[in-house]
Amino acid sequence: MTDYDTIRPVRWERDRLMLLDQRALPGRTRWIQCESSAAAAQAIRDMVVRGAPAIGIAAAYGAVLAAREAMAAAPTSWLPRLEQALEHLGAARPTAVNLRWALRRQRRRLDAATPDPAAVLLREAQAIVDEDLAANRRMGVLGAALMTEPGGVLTHCNTGSLATAGYGTALGVIRSAWMEGRITRVYAGETRPWLQGARLTAWELLQDGIPVTLLADSAAPALMRSGAVRWVVVGADRVTANGDVANKIGTYALAVAARQHGAGFMVVAPRSSVDMTLPHGDAIDIECREAGELLALNGHRVAPAGADAWNPVFDITPAALVDALVTEAGVVHRPDREGMATRFAGTGAGDAVPAGQ
Ligand code: MRU
Repeated sequence: MTDYDTIRPVRWERDRLMLLDQRALPGRTRWIQCESSAAAAQAIRDMVVRGAPAIGIAAAYGAVLAAREAMAAAPTSWLPRLEQALEHLGAARPTAVNLRWALRRQRRRLDAATPDPAAVLLREAQAIVDEDLAANRRMGVLGAALMTEPGGVLTHCNTGSLATAGYGTALGVIRSAWMEGRITRVYAGETRPWLQGARLTAWELLQDGIPVTLLADSAAPALMRSGAVRWVVVGADRVTANGDVANKIGTYALAVAARQHGAGFMVVAPRSSVDMTLPHGDAIDIECREAGELLALNGHRVAPAGADAWNPVFDITPAALVDALVTEAGVVHRPDREGMATRFAGTGAGDAVPAGQ
């Protein structure tokens, strides 16, 4: 591993899936061992592992566990059981297309005559990890090159090693640009309600020696107005055929404020997050989580009894607000339907076909 890149959140060790429990960070470093595909699906749902590429990787390893289970239960007719388990894994979270992309890729490696499906799927899961790392490195180079004048950057949620195989997407660009001296200061929004920015991004940057300044999500427009932010750099859970971007709730507000204040808005996402089957962002299934996540803080109820809450955990940023979409296949400037089609035609970019089909 090189400088500024030491964290790996998903590991396959001694035939077990190990997940760094991101709910416990930064206070505790705790690993959760998943012994079944159902446990892997639950861990994804419960945010033990999160971030679009990382949940795809966890699901790819979950498929290995599913193959072992199906072979043990029905050695001669394991495929239908395995397909059921893949469906279950694919339903764990709806918005990040990487989850279904990874499972679909796994499914394609199999047919009823595959002699050792678990071994085949393990090799494919490892390939997904290796490709994700390579994509992140490439995006780091491409995104950093867009930062032609030194300045401050603002990021949202956590898009780093914790959210990927390693290095990160938006945070990978920030790592690369930091190493090249293109960034004067990294700002991170706290990212209510799960606080991925305050807990995870701040921890990850400090682990790797990059100073970080946190701000309340609502402080971002004021920071931009002060002129301190040259680029807003975020990741994506899904990018549609017209360049619309689904990402952590609050991303849309940052894009509006960036345009208002003349800051660049950069989205960094691997091809596995690009879904050319959906025409626009309104077609994306946006995950709405429990009201309780908003009504309480750290397990302590803060809202009065009787208050309800609306808790969508992603939003859509219209393509018109995006200055650059950085993928490992290249940069799409001011993405629109035409630019997306040109860049992703025939590249096998991620799509939304359900696992098992
Ligand atoms: O709910 P989360 O923490 O899984 O949301 C994560 C994000 O929104 C990230 O920005 C996105 O997945 C890109 S991660 C490289």
